[in-house]
Amino acid sequence: MAGTARRPVAGSTVRGTFDMWATNGRAEKMELEHSRAVAARLASEDLSSPFRFLDVGCGNGWLVRRMAALPACRAAVGIDLSPCMVREARRLARLAKERYDSAPVESWAYRGRFDLVFSMEALYYADSVDAALAAIARRMAPGARLICGTDFYAENRATRWWAREMGITMHLLSRAEWAAAFRRAGLRARTRTVRDATSSKRWRRGSRDKERAGLAPPPL
Ligand SMILES: C[S@@+](CC[C@H](N)C(=O)[O-])C[C@H]1O[C@@H](n2cnc3c(N)ncnc32)[C@H](O)[C@@H]1O
Repeated sequence: MAGTARRPVAGSTVRGTFDMWATNGRAEKMELEHSRAVAARLASEDLSSPFRFLDVGCGNGWLVRRMAALPACRAAVGIDLSPCMVREARRLARLAKERYDSAPVESWAYRGRFDLVFSMEALYYADSVDAALAAIARRMAPGARLICGTDFYAENRATRWWAREMGITMHLLSRAEWAAAFRRAGLRARTRTVRDATSSKRWRRGSRDKERAGLAPPPL
């Protein structure tokens, strides 16, 4: 019914939700929806000197595969809570330097370190954003950079609907709260808005439709 939030999937958890997305076409859709903004953000990184890359919440591994294809990339690792996403990533892997692990980043048993860490639309699903960031910080080599992309933040009215519609725990932080969380993990933080004017994302249209139907976005 128009203007009615979808009912959460019965018994859904973060893992269950993304296990389902791994096989129903949503994983490929995320690549289409996220890749332009990710490429725009990575364009300002030096990817010509040797580096080790980690993607936290890698989904089906699309970004790991792209980074692994760069000649300077020495190792490209993806980690994801969802075993089904990781199974897909392993199936699609092309190069020996790719590796995929299934675990919550908070408890990932891995001893190596990385020079560039990326995380797109993933950290707000962690049970604890602080624990996830602390775990990532431990995996960063001296001078390493963490780039975290999110459409789901308090100032973005359109995505405030997501938590209600997904029916799973999602931490809605403001830009300042994200920066403070990075600092608590011992990282220096800077926020930047990457606009994707060409995006036709369904959630943006959906939010406009709901507001037209007279519904106010969920409160903070
Ligand atoms: C919205 S998807 C984004 C996938 C991919 N980064 C992309 O942009 O297409 C979020 C992913 O993060 C994973 N995830 C959520 N919480 C996680 C955690 N605590 N540790 C590792 N992965 C997590 C989910 O299983 C899911 O595959």
